[in-house]
Amino acid sequence: MLDELKDANGYIIGKIEEKDPLILEMEAFALEHNVPIVTKEVAKYLEFLVSTHNFKNILEIGTAIGYSGTIMGRIAKKNGGKLTTIEIDEVRYNQALENFKKGDLLDSINPILGDGVEEIKKLDEKFDFVFIDASKGHYMEFFNDSFERLSENGMIFIDNIMFRGYLYKEYPKRFKTIVRRLDEFITYLYRNHDFVLLPFGDGIGLVSNKVMK
Ligand SMILES: C[S@@+](CC[C@H](N)C(=O)[O-])C[C@H]1O[C@@H](n2cnc3c(N)ncnc32)[C@H](O)[C@@H]1O
Repeated sequence: MLDELKDANGYIIGKIEEKDPLILEMEAFALEHNVPIVTKEVAKYLEFLVSTHNFKNILEIGTAIGYSGTIMGRIAKKNGGKLTTIEIDEVRYNQALENFKKGDLLDSINPILGDGVEEIKKLDEKFDFVFIDASKGHYMEFFNDSFERLSENGMIFIDNIMFRGYLYKEYPKRFKTIVRRLDEFITYLYRNHDFVLLPFGDGIGLVSNKVMK
């Protein structure tokens, strides 16, 4: 992340006064147990987008402990919709179920334990909003399968697309393949889709369902 952006993100995070007990509990748990969850400023933006567009049927790839899922699931429930969320790790999947239960969201959540690469293909429905937040090596696959299931006026939100800033600065060589794949993915999105890249958080990609000719 550019230093100026790091400072900007830090400034934004410092302004966010979270009061919701369940959200605070999950943030503390994630910090203590090293669970990667969406950063606060990105969580607020996610909440803002989902609520202002009144998205009803939402898909998330990468549930973790259900932090972003709780934020989006509450709005989906209020709008009479549901959140389908996929997690590959059984321990995290079960922690997410506990949190959805605490948030009284189980009736409007379809939690799936499995690999997003395979599980999305089994979903026979349209989604208004897709939040991609799982293994970066599979972003292209997650994206293509989600795009096929995107409803009219739908939107795909891709988190961490600039991967710690490694796409534009020095990075440890072990990340070479993932950096190359993400870079190619961004080029592909600009060439073929209605896409914007926001240098916010760890880089956010937004895609509408408009097909570019
Ligand atoms: C960054 S965390 C998700 C955080 C969550 N969206 C939040 O902000 O609360 C990424 C999660 O994706 C899961 N994951 C990784 N690869 C996956 C895959 N192929 N299919 C489904 N989940 C996957 C990981 O186990 C991890 O819990």
